[in-house]
Amino acid sequence: MRTWTMALVLLAGAAGADEGDVRLRDGTGRSVVEASCSMCHSLDYIPMNSPFLDRKGWEASVTKMIKIMGAPIRAEDVPAIVDYLNKNYGR
Ligand code: HEC
Repeated sequence: MRTWTMALVLLAGAAGADEGDVRLRDGTGRSVVEASCSMCHSLDYIPMNSPFLDRKGWEASVTKMIKIMGAPIRAEDVPAIVDYLNKNYGR
């Protein structure tokens, strides 16, 4: 039991250390995505959701981040963000 708990703690520590290091795929729009999408949660959310989201899905997701979560993303950046997400992480 003890050993098992320790392993869990170690695992959690390693996951935490990795978080700042998520590298998104290189491509047009990557820097704006990294700047816009990393302030509230890890960029992990992007590759994690790539099997589920097509262009429409990403568009809805970005809109939700802005309208519901209050992400301070400029309207003129949205097309570049959606393009990048769809091209690199679209279903
Ligand atoms: C203002 C804070 C904020 C910003 C900025 C933000 N998000 Fe989120 N995001 C959230 C919150 C809050 C959740 C849901 C709670 C959680 O699971 O952490 C979330 C969840 C998600 C999810 C999981 C699925 C879902 O809809 O719940 C995805 C995918 C996602 N965000 C993508 C993005 C992308 C892409 C960007 C950049 C365009 C972004 N987020 C920017 C706050 C933000």
